[in-house]
Amino acid sequence: MKHVLSVIGTGYLGATHAACMSSLGFTVIGIDSDLEKIARLSKGDLPFYEPGLEELLKEQLATGRLSFTTDFSASEKASVHFICVGTPQKANSLAADLTFVESAVEQLAPHLTDGSLVVGKSTVPVGTAQKLATQLASSAPTAELAWNPEFLREGFAIQDTLRPNRLVVGVTSDRAEQILRECYEPLLALKTPWIRADLPTSELVKVAANTFLATKISFINAMAEVCEAAGGDVTVLAQAIGYDPRIGDKFLQAGIGFGGGCLPKDIRAFMARAEELGAQQALEFLKEIDAINLRARARVIEVVRHLLGEDLTKFRISVLGAAFKPESDDVRDSPALDISAQLSSAGAHVVVHDPKAIANAKKRFPQLDFATTANECVTGSDMVLHLTEWREYREIDPTAMKSLVKSPIIIDGRNALDRDLWVQAGWKFHALGRKNP
Ligand code: UGA
Repeated sequence: MKHVLSVIGTGYLGATHAACMSSLGFTVIGIDSDLEKIARLSKGDLPFYEPGLEELLKEQLATGRLSFTTDFSASEKASVHFICVGTPQKANSLAADLTFVESAVEQLAPHLTDGSLVVGKSTVPVGTAQKLATQLASSAPTAELAWNPEFLREGFAIQDTLRPNRLVVGVTSDRAEQILRECYEPLLALKTPWIRADLPTSELVKVAANTFLATKISFINAMAEVCEAAGGDVTVLAQAIGYDPRIGDKFLQAGIGFGGGCLPKDIRAFMARAEELGAQQALEFLKEIDAINLRARARVIEVVRHLLGEDLTKFRISVLGAAFKPESDDVRDSPALDISAQLSSAGAHVVVHDPKAIANAKKRFPQLDFATTANECVTGSDMVLHLTEWREYREIDPTAMKSLVKSPIIIDGRNALDRDLWVQAGWKFHALGRKNP
């Protein structure tokens, strides 16, 4: 008999996990306190953009295995409960806000049936799982807690969930491991590596992975700064070092750096937690990783001023891209929007386009102007900034676009456009970390 599962928190992670586990044949109850979100999910209307997920959601709802509710008592039908709520950065500190995780466990506890397994998937500071286990031991003594970090990337959420490159479980008993093996049996059949760890190690694996990725991006952006100063080309450098399998060619795309709801807040929360543990020196370097990342955004503003002059008030600047990365409508800590907002504060008339993220961007930065097409965005502009590397932008015909702008000047903030093509079409082309005109 397959376990019945509940998924608490139906945002990005939870909605994906619920739909994917249902597709593996489990009965899944998605629970969230947000009425509107639950109403939309129940209708098969995904509240955010993720390739293929709305189709999967509709398909799974139709099987009758997947349902959504705001009522925590529905979790009584389940024996394994995945906690998938967010852990954003606190407003006035680097630390993670654990309110949602704590509240999820508190609301779930009275409904836990004997022998239930509560499985944390949210990214949390190390030590949180042990604290929650202690909390559960008094409120639901027969329940057990495990941690099972999630490594999915936005834009590849389904693929990363159903074909993960590893499964990591933090457990305190063989029984908990066995239950999780049963939940992931179809993935284990695909020979997915399985790592059993203790609770703190499983929490640390997740932040260590994101810290490494952030470090890799800031490393290449630091090289971009040096390349610019020395007259080198970071794209060639990245390609050349990437052939060394110990280095690898992924995550070496120099540009305006990392954003989103994970990497920036995870490295900050990790520093805050290390300080609490008295291990701050070990993560001192992350301050520099964060600083390099934010400097990449500032460097774009400097280049704009260098090319247009100090006074930006008379210029129309067109920004291609608002999402923190392509194939997503997520604008949390988006480098593209941060740069747009800074230019707007400096007096420029900023017009932004994005294939999917305009609605979210408008909510966050109502002071910016938005265009519904890339052509509308660039018409009459003094400068174009390419800040999120959507395929649509890589396919732009620079000759055709040149006829729309006032001045053919472009900054490629993602090193993703074909420079030769743009230069041949008569554009003044500026890129981060490369020789510029
Ligand atoms: C990241 C991790 O990659 C996932 O493994 C993890 O599960 C997830 O966080 C999470 O903690 O939930 P995600 O935030 O979806 O996933 O985005 P990434 O693909 O990691 O990209 C992060 C940022 O780095 C983006 O702004 C992207 O544009 C930037 N980036 C990425 C670069 O600037 N250069 C690169 O070479 C790669």
